[in-house]
Parts: sequence; C-alpha cells; structure tokens
Amino acid sequence: MNYRHEYHAGNFADVFKHIILTRILAYLMRKDTGAVYIDTHAGAGHYDLGGAAARATGEAMAGVGRLKPPFPPLVADLVADWARLCGVDAGRGMPASYPGSPLIAQQMLRAQDRLCLAEKHHATADSLNIACGVDRRLKIFEADGYATLKALVPPPERRGLVLIDPPFEATSEFADLRHALDAALKRWAQGTYAIWYPVKDQEPERLAAHLAAAGLDKVLRLELDIDSPAPGALSACGMIIINAPYVLAEEARRLLPWLAQTLRQGDNPRWRVDEVRAG
Ligand SMILES: C[S@@+](CC[C@H](N)C(=O)[O-])C[C@H]1O[C@@H](n2cnc3c(N)ncnc32)[C@H](O)[C@@H]1O
Repeated sequence: MNYRHEYHAGNFADVFKHIILTRILAYLMRKDTGAVYIDTHAGAGHYDLGGAAARATGEAMAGVGRLKPPFPPLVADLVADWARLCGVDAGRGMPASYPGSPLIAQQMLRAQDRLCLAEKHHATADSLNIACGVDRRLKIFEADGYATLKALVPPPERRGLVLIDPPFEATSEFADLRHALDAALKRWAQGTYAIWYPVKDQEPERLAAHLAAAGLDKVLRLELDIDSPAPGALSACGMIIINAPYVLAEEARRLLPWLAQTLRQGDNPRWRVDEVRAG
C-alpha cells in the first residue's frame, strides 16, 4: 500500500468532502439523542501543510489555501474552526495545517456521541492516536475499515454517519466497497452512509446504479469538477450519500457553485446534485 494522504490533505477533494461531512454532522446534531460517527478510512487526523509532502504537490495551496472571505453562512463556522485548529501560515496566507475527517468530527460531536475510527496503516494509526488525544468518546481500530464496519453495525445508538473514504489504489476498491456497503445496509438500513469517490471512469455510475437497483431512497449524488488542465491530475470527485438528510440537496445547491468558482483550475468548472432513483 503506497497511498499517503499527507500529499493531498487540504486539496479541492478534501475541502469538498469535509464541507459535505460537516453539513451531514450538523444535521445529525439537531437531535439531543446520541449518534455514532464511523470513519472506515480515517487517515492521520491532522496534516502539516508546511511539510515536505504538502509542499511537493502544492495541492493544499490550490484547495483550502484558496478559501477567502466572504464565506457562505453554511460554512463560516467550519472555516473559523479550521483557522482555530490549524493556525495560519502568514507568509502563504493559508492554514499552517489541516484537519482530517476524524478531527473535524471530533470537534462537532457532543458528550453523548461516539467516534469509531479505522485506519489500517500502522504509522498512520499512530499519528491518528496522537492527533485525537485522550477522548473517552473515541475508539481507534488499527484494522481494515470494511471489516471494522461490519463488526460495528448496527450501533446501539441506531443513528449516525459512516464515512467511507478509501484511497482507491486497488482495482477491486469499488467492488470491495459495494460488498461492504451491502453487508452494512443489511444490518443497519437506517444509517447515513457517505462515500467519497474520484471521477475517473464508469465505476461511480455502476455504484449509483447498484444502489438504485437495491431500491434505496434518499440517495444523493454530489460531484465537483474543477476543470484541471494538468495531465493525469484528479479533476473531479464526488460523494454518494445514502439516507441523506433532507436539507442536504438544497444546501449542496447553494455550496457547490461557490466551491466550483473558488477552486476552479480552468474556465469550465462543473458541479452536480442528483437524487439517485431506480429506473
Ligand atoms: C483518503 S485517506 C483518508 C482521509 C480521511 N478520511 C480524511 O478525510 O481526512 C485513506 C486512508 O485509508 C487508509 N487505508 C488504506 N486501506 C485501508 C483499509 N483497508 N482499511 C482502513 N484504512 C485503510 C490509508 O492508510 C489512508 O490513511
């Protein structure tokens, strides 16, 4: 396994994913009853944007580094949290570091909620432990994310979010993901599942068709294309959200045009918000 997220942390795909993540969590936090957050591919939790890896790609500079006020009200709190959590690199006018999904969720969850984080890579799991600190709400599994998910559902809370954010290095990743999702949905049909994916080929289409054929409702598909002219660079990514909060489609229609304009590399950035339906 070669994937190292420190090269990509804070890039356009992370900003897109984490903004959607916070909108789903904000919705879950509307009810007082406890919820669980399961992150199947958690990463290191916190990334130094001044380090050699981040500087080598410059991806963060073209991602979180481009977020400047005024911010849409839906993300103003999030950006303030990033600034507080990550400090500022005054020379470059951008955050000095960047939080991963576990830290973003850890900030938003309350005393009655739980976090379960899976990370297979030993050194990354060690970093994750350090980044999260001591927190009685939280458990880290140094293990395969799909096997961990299977063991954790249904959770006693019966409400919560699963973030599935694999590196997509293995050619079997979409198939593995689909099997894990089918098994989890069988045990916990009410959970919200958010799956991040790169748009490179027909695999996202196949996954959406698979979910539509399974007759699931409240499935949302969001995509952002920054129109990158760089050969071989990732230009577009998306998220499929199962049991999406009813407000999410409308929120995404307000946020994605702003993100597309803010993060675009070429003249023709695109975004989409679709409800996935059978037939
Ligand atoms: C895209 S990164 C995760 C980023 C993180 N979710 C975030 O938003 O900050 C993918 C992570 O999955 C880890 N990983 C790879 N294969 C895994 C597996 N089978 N189970 C759990 N983690 C895995 C990698 O080591 C890497 O840290």
